[in-house]
Amino acid sequence: MEQTQYHGIFDSHAHYDDEAFDPDRDELLNHISQNGVCAVINAGCDLPSSHEGIALSQKYPFFYSSIGIHPHEAQSVTQETIEELRSLAQNPKVVAVGEIGLDYHYDLSPREKQREVFEQQLLLAKELSLPVIIHSREATAETLTLLKKYRPQGVVHCFSGSAETAREIVGLGMYLGFTGMITFKNTKHALEAIQAVPTDRLLLETDCPYMTPVPYRGKRCDSTMIALTAQKMAQLKNLPIQEMIDLARQNTCRLFGIEEGALG
Ligand code: NI
Repeated sequence: MEQTQYHGIFDSHAHYDDEAFDPDRDELLNHISQNGVCAVINAGCDLPSSHEGIALSQKYPFFYSSIGIHPHEAQSVTQETIEELRSLAQNPKVVAVGEIGLDYHYDLSPREKQREVFEQQLLLAKELSLPVIIHSREATAETLTLLKKYRPQGVVHCFSGSAETAREIVGLGMYLGFTGMITFKNTKHALEAIQAVPTDRLLLETDCPYMTPVPYRGKRCDSTMIALTAQKMAQLKNLPIQEMIDLARQNTCRLFGIEEGALG
């Protein structure tokens, strides 16, 4: 964990259910607010992680959860899976359907099944009036086609696409989430994307335990390290770091329907 001089950090995408946090999850989460983090959304990837995210949100007031099936897991989805997601979404700490989408890089589920499950969950989100958290890897064209078809509220998380794609997503009324990837030396497109879109469309996220920002690469990421991502984003937007953190928090609260006053 990092000591940060900043406050009011909202990590809009984390995976605290991940086994990387098994040795010290409670220790970490108990102290995270003393290190500038005021809220976290845990992103579900399958039914167990969606359940676990909700369980953590019952334990920690600053903790919210999304529920959904990642494209990697699409193959296992049946109608019962969708029913279970629908019932999990009744919990008041569930703020989104996600992460859902298409992953044509790993192709861990057949593409046709990925599209089918993505569409089922876009419909579920619409029915529940919840925003979506989108995962899209090497599937930009098809992701955009489906976003245009269903017009959800939501965020494309861990955005690494072009400025042009960024403008198109923002044009649909959606948001873009950026991870520690923007601190990596070889990142170029994501930086241009940040510069291309209005500040009120940017979210900060860790995707922890993954995407650890420089200079901590190789270590396990947690929400306190987001300050380094905020620093890079602030530099690209010509803003003081704390202001960037505050704007990203306001954007996150607006998207997910969270009262800012409810945050610690
Ligand atoms: Ni993620």
